Amino acid sequence: MLLIMPFALCVSIGILLLPRFPCTLGKCIFDQVQRSIKVVSPPTGQYAFAHRSLSETASQENPAPRSSKHQRAERRVESMTDLQPIRIKAWIPSESPALTEWERERLMSALDDAVSEISNLLSVRRVPHSLLLNRDINKYCKFIWRNSSTVNHMKCGRANENYRFETCLGVIMPDEHLNGCAVYPHPEHPDPTVLKPEGTGVADTDFLLYVFTHSTDKCRAESSILAYAAHCQTDSEGRPLAGTMIICRETLSMERYTHEHFVQTVIHELFHVLGFSKDLFGRWKDCSLSSQAGIDCWSHGQLTSTDEMGQARLYSPTVIREMQKHLNSTHTDLGAPLENKDAGSDGLSSHWEARVLQGSIMAALLVEPSLIRIDPITLAALQDTGWYSVNLSRAQSLVWGEGEGHQFGSVSTCHNSTFFCTDSGLGCHYLHFHKGECVTDQYLDGCHIFKPLANASECWKEENERSGLTEGSGEIYGSDSRCFISNLTRLNNASASAPVAGHCYRHRCTGINKYQIQVMGSDWLDCPAGKSIEVSGYEGFIFCPDNRICKYSDLAPTTSRQKAADHLNAGTFIESDDDVIKKDRSTPRPSFIRRSSATVSKVIVAAVLSFMAAFSLLPAGMHVYRKCSSVRVRVHAVNEPSYMPQMPQTQCISTN
Ligand SMILES: *[C@@H]1O[C@H](CO)[C@@H](O)[C@H](O)[C@H]1NC(C)=O
Ligand SMILES: *[C@@H]1O[C@H](CO)[C@@H](O)[C@H](O)[C@H]1NC(C)=O
Ligand SMILES: *[C@@H]1O[C@H](CO)[C@@H](O)[C@H](O)[C@H]1NC(C)=O
Ligand SMILES: *[C@@H]1O[C@H](CO)[C@@H](O)[C@H](O)[C@H]1NC(C)=O
Ligand SMILES: *[C@@H]1O[C@H](CO)[C@@H](O)[C@H](O)[C@H]1NC(C)=O
Ligand SMILES: *[C@@H]1O[C@H](CO)[C@@H](O)[C@H](O)[C@H]1NC(C)=O
Repeated sequence: MLLIMPFALCVSIGILLLPRFPCTLGKCIFDQVQRSIKVVSPPTGQYAFAHRSLSETASQENPAPRSSKHQRAERRVESMTDLQPIRIKAWIPSESPALTEWERERLMSALDDAVSEISNLLSVRRVPHSLLLNRDINKYCKFIWRNSSTVNHMKCGRANENYRFETCLGVIMPDEHLNGCAVYPHPEHPDPTVLKPEGTGVADTDFLLYVFTHSTDKCRAESSILAYAAHCQTDSEGRPLAGTMIICRETLSMERYTHEHFVQTVIHELFHVLGFSKDLFGRWKDCSLSSQAGIDCWSHGQLTSTDEMGQARLYSPTVIREMQKHLNSTHTDLGAPLENKDAGSDGLSSHWEARVLQGSIMAALLVEPSLIRIDPITLAALQDTGWYSVNLSRAQSLVWGEGEGHQFGSVSTCHNSTFFCTDSGLGCHYLHFHKGECVTDQYLDGCHIFKPLANASECWKEENERSGLTEGSGEIYGSDSRCFISNLTRLNNASASAPVAGHCYRHRCTGINKYQIQVMGSDWLDCPAGKSIEVSGYEGFIFCPDNRICKYSDLAPTTSRQKAADHLNAGTFIESDDDVIKKDRSTPRPSFIRRSSATVSKVIVAAVLSFMAAFSLLPAGMHVYRKCSSVRVRVHAVNEPSYMPQMPQTQCISTN
């Protein structure tokens, strides 16, 4: 379907769920939310020709833009070989509801951090000059000349008088972001009637993200939805160029809001719109033999299929390699499994299978921030899109399932693995920062894992230490404490025989997978990985986990960043003197998202005005545009926070 209908791709919408508010059926979210978006690609073949000649006609009347166009073309050739960090720009549409100061601060700082994180990971063949998005000829045009021997073959012959604007997941795209469009009323007459003049584009941008914060119907229908997104434009190589992220306004004022969690939400959604989407799997390209990324690439062919166990998997070369590395398997056909519980009717999902890739940023459920990993398999998938060069050395170790072999996480074997647990009971989350409870969820197909307790489960938080409960088992909470399974009980305590459960003790590393631990009142004791030890003064044992502690240098509880988030939670704004925030703020970021939304709408208006001056040599364009700009003003004047503004009444297109 993707190959046959390049102008009408269905796009899945990425959805994020809050933990502990599971919907009863895994599929429910996608059924509610998935909807068709018409993805617009640049005109190709004859369309491209028709499009180009519009630009050239405009240039002939105004020589200045023409020379700049030629420079543009040259620059494009020069810059093809070098890939540079992707520049993602967030654009707040002018019809966005007015946010409170602190809502905006939360939104902007999370967007900022997510965008800079992603530009550290992904490089792209940059868009030269400014990014100009395309109009959908099937929307603005009612009739296309089909006679190949006429001058205006494949050009628009008659305008659709109902055409007003382009939208992206319901958000109106400003005219200045878009290419122009024209009609050619006569098949042989090359003079066009301009419907919409060419916009100025968005400078220094490789991906434009419309960010709309609103309590939409979808947000209200399902309280666990934090945000959702879709891409709506691609370039001629298929790379997404623009998309919209709807942020449920409720998210920003949640009681349990944390900056970290929200940043991960935005990164998750951005990964979806940048290419991690089941509707784009079929358009990913193999550029491994290409001298210039994104150019001279092959189609991967079909990347997804179902294995003998009925598990849908993604089989792309880098993903397979990273899966083999991760599970320590030489299995040649080890694709990454896709979530079966939110699969559509095609059997596919845009999320990883939770049993196998638990904790990945691209799993369907985003849990506590310190437990989420931007893992090598997710980055491998982005690499395999062919649109990006990904710095795989920046991947965070996934830990979950490492070295467990190719069958890890299957429903039939999950009870045999130390990563899973078998019944209810208390233990440790597999990263050992948290005490855990053996539970299942709607994505685990009955397998059980230790998930952090509902509250006070962090061993590294000193404030979780409560006298009385911790006394008998010798627990110590603090930044260097981790969770250990034990049934340690003080010797002289009559009410002995504590059950085996997760307990917090201090630890320090003495080598890779080698560490010592300290219990209340004890010395530092060697805790040999995979063995259990006794502690003098106590009955019972402590079990020393293997390959979990003192093995990964990139694992740490969220401390510094959490501090920043706590700051925000306390109502302090980002301009504060906090060192952490200052450091984060010093990184360069796109100018759009630094501005308040009020400034953004001023900028839009200013751009419209200067743009009108530039087009004064095009009488037809001017005529149409004046009418259009009155429409714009009307849109700006909408006070009610309406998701889709009413169709403006003003006639925008002159029919012939
Ligand atoms: C196509 O256009 C040519 C030139 O105008 C004309 O001679 C021819 O009859 C047209 N063909 C059709 C099928 O309309
Ligand atoms: C990839 O990331 C590593 C670690 O941050 C960095 O040292 C290296 O320079 C990066 N490589 C490229 C090609 O950007
Ligand atoms: C991988 O598996 C091989 C044998 O199957 C084993 O010898 C090796 O130690 C394993 N490597 C890791 C890192 O677990
Ligand atoms: C968890 O929080 C609730 C409500 O704040 C409190 O009543 C309960 O005692 C807490 N549980 C633990 C284990 O701290
Ligand atoms: C024995 O353990 C209980 C809880 O496990 C504790 O409340 C009590 O204080 C302990 N008694 C002594 C003598 O340590
Ligand atoms: C602690 O657990 C071990 C292993 O399950 C058991 O053998 C031992 O009796 C337990 N000790 C106490 C004091 O409960």
